[in-house]
Amino acid sequence: MIESKINGWIRKEILNQSLYTVNNLNTPIKLNQNESPIDWPKDIKKQFLLYLHDCVWNRYPEINGENLRKKLARKFHLSKNQIIIGKGSNEVIQAITTATLSSGDIVCHLSPTFALYSLLSQHRGAKIIQSKLDYEFNVVLDDLINKSAMAKLTFIANPNSPTGKLLPIEIVKKVAEQTSGLVIVDEAYIDFSGGSAIPLIEQFENIIITRTFSKAWSLASFRLGYGIMHNSLALEIQKCMLPFNIDSPSALAGHFLLDHMDHIKKTISAIVDEREKLAIKLNALHGVKAWSSRTNFFMLETPLSPSVTFRKLAENGILVRDISSYPLCEKVIRVTVGTAKENKRLYKIITNLL
Ligand SMILES: Cc1ncc(COP(=O)(O)O)c(C=O)c1O
Repeated sequence: MIESKINGWIRKEILNQSLYTVNNLNTPIKLNQNESPIDWPKDIKKQFLLYLHDCVWNRYPEINGENLRKKLARKFHLSKNQIIIGKGSNEVIQAITTATLSSGDIVCHLSPTFALYSLLSQHRGAKIIQSKLDYEFNVVLDDLINKSAMAKLTFIANPNSPTGKLLPIEIVKKVAEQTSGLVIVDEAYIDFSGGSAIPLIEQFENIIITRTFSKAWSLASFRLGYGIMHNSLALEIQKCMLPFNIDSPSALAGHFLLDHMDHIKKTISAIVDEREKLAIKLNALHGVKAWSSRTNFFMLETPLSPSVTFRKLAENGILVRDISSYPLCEKVIRVTVGTAKENKRLYKIITNLL
């Protein structure tokens, strides 16, 4: 009964979309969502819980994550008015699309890339144009420049997902120079690669950078991300965040982590070391290709089809991401770098498959 009414109630842009889902197979080893495999040590968690114990629970949190913005601003030598905080960088991206896009506006992104850019832009009725990568997953510069010139928003995940490739900052600069629209540089994985576009913010009023605590900072369960941009732009985009969106525990966790940068740096270098060791071993196997990556994940080809590789790994307790339906990705699965033990297990199972 309700189905016939739904079409009248819900906007067509929403009806036309499928629900965002992830495969939640319960395997002992989880290498499918590019999370950090290294949780915060117990003694650090205990210290954090003391802070949480002392913080006030019956009042709303501070508005707009004010103090966390100040602390991030100090870290990046920016003003707090250039920073907005979201429940994950996803919420920052959503606030950007809400603030900027009307029906029919053009949005440009690379293809393949992170799915949320088109999903959120389509919610607003925007038209998507994709700049397809070449067969080595590199950006086709002229195409990106031409297409972004027409766009109100251009999304560049840097490094990109699922490819793991880093785009030189010069290219970001060129895109920002050529378009009258905004360029959103999604730096979710930048801690693994370096090469941030933050230094461009001062020169380019049309660049927005989004970042997250979910990946290199091992905090995916708290939902914390931020955007960096010109302060006039930040003021407008902040209006599209819900008041008190950042709960006190998340803001507190952000503060706390910023005081533990040494631990974060150690975690990052352990993951990068593991990635390189694993890639060398996998690439030595006949018919296997681990694509070079600047992130905490990589694309993997085996002589078997992605769906078979996915299934066999899952049967052996490892969940990866079958991305073979993405453009250009017919042969690949995406694997998050795990702990040394998890990576050893992955390698063993792959060798058994051959
Ligand atoms: C490229 C990219 N950007 C943004 C996100 C969203 O991160 P979060 O909302 O956890 O900050 C992800 C998550 O997988 C991602 O891969």
